[in-house]
Amino acid sequence: MLSPVPLPPLSGRTAIVTAAGAGIGRAIAVEWSSRGGSVVVADLNADAARSTADEIGRVGGESTWTTVDVTDSEAMPGAVAAALESFGRIDALFNVAGASLPKRVDEMADSDWYRMIDINLTSVYRCSKHVIPELRRAGGGSIVNISSTAGILAENRCSAYSAAKGGVLLLTKNMAMDYAADGIRVNAVCPGSTMTPRIRDYLDRVPGHDSLLDDLCPMKRYAEPEEIARPAVFLASDEASYITGAVLAVDGGLTAGKHFAIFEDA
Ligand SMILES: NC(=O)c1ccc[n+]([C@@H]2O[C@H](COP(=O)([O-])OP(=O)(O)OC[C@H]3O[C@@H](n4cnc5c(N)ncnc54)[C@H](O)[C@@H]3O)[C@@H](O)[C@H]2O)c1
Repeated sequence: MLSPVPLPPLSGRTAIVTAAGAGIGRAIAVEWSSRGGSVVVADLNADAARSTADEIGRVGGESTWTTVDVTDSEAMPGAVAAALESFGRIDALFNVAGASLPKRVDEMADSDWYRMIDINLTSVYRCSKHVIPELRRAGGGSIVNISSTAGILAENRCSAYSAAKGGVLLLTKNMAMDYAADGIRVNAVCPGSTMTPRIRDYLDRVPGHDSLLDDLCPMKRYAEPEEIARPAVFLASDEASYITGAVLAVDGGLTAGKHFAIFEDA
């Protein structure tokens, strides 16, 4: 039997993780720390941010937390300052914060549209812009943008969300090209449906849909947040040293192809 190869540690490396108070962001922060890296837990909700930092601290990891609203242009410099004050450098940024809104184009107010584009797409521009100079100063680094399978395949009634998450994928590729010479790699992860507290709440509010993935996802189950976090941290680590501009679907096969029931019986 093969013995597991120990993963190279991330000691001495600092990551800022947005939306790290819950769900996928929290799992990324915990995974980064479990590999020895230090983390800036950045979240809109102070209690949630503190709770992730406490969880990291309980197992001997190093972190600090700060409140950041990714829709506020003034907020990210505070997270950058917190990282430099606590750890002296920044090596990685995980742009995780996002939100969805099930509305067709003609059901949406202009404000809904702008909010979706702002929190999902403009936030990636806004947060990256403040971190890139520090990554450059550190001699290189990595940005991982959390998009969605909705950025690859359209999802019904998710027009603004799909448009924004698709935009994240091309922004990822543009940034990969623009910063390769600085040693900054930029990649995207497209999670499939992941059992985070938000999704659990949603399923509770829309009863009868707990098996909504059966017809869509070949693996017929939700991801656990840790199953998204591990590939995201991999992309930011030296193990992915030649990967930039990549879009990694972590979706149980959801975007692999179409399923035609009729072929099962042919
Ligand atoms: N959960 C899924 O099934 C799924 C699937 C595909 C993509 N995604 C994407 O993954 C990301 C995380 O989703 P999730 O379900 O883990 O998280 P979530 O929506 O449950 O939120 C996690 C955290 O985000 C924080 N947050 C909300 N608005 C914020 C803001 N403006 N600034 C900073 N923090 C903010 C919240 O306080 C919370 O702690 C999102 O970009 C989402 O679009 C999620």
